[in-house]
Amino acid sequence: MAYELVLLEGDGIGPEVSDATVAVLAASGVTIDWLRMPAGAGAVPTHGTPLPDATLRAIERCRVALKGPSTTPVGGGFTSVNVAIRQALDLYVSLRPVRSIPGVRTRHDGVDLVIFRENTEGLYKGMEHEPVPGVVETLRIISADACRRICRWAGDWARAEGRHRLTLVHKATIMKQSDGLFIKSFREVGDEDPFLRRDDALVDDVVRELVLDPTGFDCLVMENLYGDVLSDLCAGLVGGLGVVPGANIGDRYAVFEAVHGSAPDIAGQGLANPTALIQSAVLLLRHIGERTAAARVERALLSVLAAGEVRTRDLGGSADTAAFRDAVIAALAQEAA
Ligand code: NAI
Ligand code: MG
Repeated sequence: MAYELVLLEGDGIGPEVSDATVAVLAASGVTIDWLRMPAGAGAVPTHGTPLPDATLRAIERCRVALKGPSTTPVGGGFTSVNVAIRQALDLYVSLRPVRSIPGVRTRHDGVDLVIFRENTEGLYKGMEHEPVPGVVETLRIISADACRRICRWAGDWARAEGRHRLTLVHKATIMKQSDGLFIKSFREVGDEDPFLRRDDALVDDVVRELVLDPTGFDCLVMENLYGDVLSDLCAGLVGGLGVVPGANIGDRYAVFEAVHGSAPDIAGQGLANPTALIQSAVLLLRHIGERTAAARVERALLSVLAAGEVRTRDLGGSADTAAFRDAVIAALAQEAA
């Protein structure tokens, strides 16, 4: 059976890491017909918008997309395409597993965390205005429904994957009402599902503990901005942005993308590490029920990283994107042989 899935290549290093990932998936034994749709800064000159309606309709039809990073202008300009997709398709969960990679040396070993970031609310609603000149107000929206559904999804996922603890990250000492509502919702959902250990911690305490000893945490659920910041921090714990995958998931659609951005500093030079997007594709394969292929791709990828001979520059190697892709494909072929 062939799957029809949407591919958004993205900007900057997007086409490079997308090509590598598509090639690895083609070697995985799963047949995917990719529907390539425009999105991001690259779509503006041709379509007059960074997120054409046809792209959203294609994701709605196919339900699942793989997405490269998109460039967002700083300060003014168009709204982030990522934020727009998450809101338009109600992809309320940002799932980001963060794991140490055997053979990739970092400050800490044995990191195995999962971040669940609420993906539709908080400060990322983008509701800003200037009530009087020189004063800008940004609205931070937290609703009970959104808190409950992310907490419920995170708890269900944690239990299904055999995790043992879910920690709510907040700052309810200061934002007593909004983060207070998050805590209340978290506890209500916990009362319905007593088989998972749940606790909560202040965001500043959590970041300090994460850099000192990240092995002390298991699953972390939090609102949008904390999740954005902690995801990048946790990426730094396991080898950087080039290795950490992500997924944006809702009740009807899912878009799989790495945590990293379009990396304009290395775009077009063949230097990008496709590991993060390949890992995102592993999450995609699991999501569509192709668990065997997902495990094969993951094993092949990790074996190349563990061997250490073929690595991209961000991990201290000298291989280019294509050489790394070919090494993963060769490892897949070897496994099949
Ligand atoms: P970035 O993640 O693109 O780059 C930060 C640093 O990490 C750079 O030095 C870059 O070279 C390196 N890096 C990132 N991914 C890498 C990879 N796969 N292999 C090797 N090195 C890698 O973050 P930055 O520079 O802050 O943002 C660039 C653009 O990306 C901005 O327009 C931003 O808005 C956008 N962005 C898009 C995201 C998305 O589409 N999901 C997420 C984050 C940022
Ligand atoms: Mg980010």
